[in-house]
Amino acid sequence: MTWEPSVVAFCCNWCAYAGADLAGVSRFQYPTNVKVVRVMCSGRVEPSYVLRCFRNGADGVMVLGCHIGDCHYFKGNERARQRIADTGDILERLGIGRERLLLRWISAGEGALFASTCREFVELVRSLGPLPEVGCDQP
Ligand code: FES
Repeated sequence: MTWEPSVVAFCCNWCAYAGADLAGVSRFQYPTNVKVVRVMCSGRVEPSYVLRCFRNGADGVMVLGCHIGDCHYFKGNERARQRIADTGDILERLGIGRERLLLRWISAGEGALFASTCREFVELVRSLGPLPEVGCDQP
């Protein structure tokens, strides 16, 4: 059986999740490799969420939120930007690599951008190959 990348997309409820919904309604194609997880804000995604995805078989993780200035919780996405940068550092140290984690801003009206972001990221992860074995056994 050929390997297929598994990607988790944390989508903020107010923008990126609505963008994903619009992509579906508009029939913009994106790979079924992407599993969408709705969160209220991109700033809610803690490093432990990302690490848990990788520990449970994900090969890539996306965090998709509102554009800067549009966060419904004012500075949640700015917090996300710092958290994701810090999480990337952790991924580097673990040997996973920061390139397996993507942060993007996608509004409710950007269904096409949601679909193209998914396609491009899945192809990037495919080119990286399966997640290497890493020593992260904590629950
Ligand atoms: Fe969308 Fe904060 S509510 S990023």
